[in-house]
Amino acid sequence: MNTLEAIYSRKSIRGFFPQPVPKELIKRVLEAACQAPSACNMQPWEFIIVQAKARENLIKALLDAYEKEKRPSRTQSKIPAKYKERMQSLFNAIRPFTEKTPRFDTWRGSLEFYQAPVVIIVGKDKNIDYIRLLDIGLAVENLMLAAHELGLGTCPIGLTLRYADVISKTLNLPSQLELVLTIALGYPNPNLEVNKFKAPKIGIEECITWME
Ligand SMILES: Cc1cc2nc3c(=O)[nH]c(=O)nc-3n(C[C@H](O)[C@H](O)[C@H](O)COP(=O)(O)O)c2cc1C
Repeated sequence: MNTLEAIYSRKSIRGFFPQPVPKELIKRVLEAACQAPSACNMQPWEFIIVQAKARENLIKALLDAYEKEKRPSRTQSKIPAKYKERMQSLFNAIRPFTEKTPRFDTWRGSLEFYQAPVVIIVGKDKNIDYIRLLDIGLAVENLMLAAHELGLGTCPIGLTLRYADVISKTLNLPSQLELVLTIALGYPNPNLEVNKFKAPKIGIEECITWME
């Protein structure tokens, strides 16, 4: 698979087989993540790999917290209309697929990492400036493309961050670590209708300005 093929064929996976992922494969994915460029080569990313009993405990804690309290999005409601419209078109486009997927629920699914056997918590030191989230994003894209090339699937999951305090407490993470994303990683279940969905992307004319 060449780079462009990987970029164009990667997609978020929302249902996995329970089969564990060999540690060597997880390491290759993380090594690819760590090849990303970063300002002054600071490499400001931290990855916590959660599996087995630790993963079960985490999911239980997240679902318990969700049952107790449905926390609202941390996203500000000032999002300009055109981006809101794109969100709405995603929800409309994915619905026919989720409706045909037994027991699919975005909220619970996200908090259970869509059954993925591997959960990756992505974080940064609290004293690293927010602008360095860019560098971490580059590493995360590398991670997802490498996983895809190796026959694995990923879903970046931000919904879990509403319960970042629960994650940190359950996994006993250092207080200095600020969580920025969680990622589900595993073998995609291609039989699920939701995994046949490919999100539409905008045409470049919608986001570029030529100046000549
Ligand atoms: C920062 C971030 C947070 C996300 N959070 C969630 C989430 O909580 N649950 C989910 O099902 N998908 C989540 N996604 C996946 C997006 O919905 C997905 O990337 C988008 O619809 C585009 O689809 P694609 O990844 O297949 O290209 C997230 C993606 C990103 C980059």
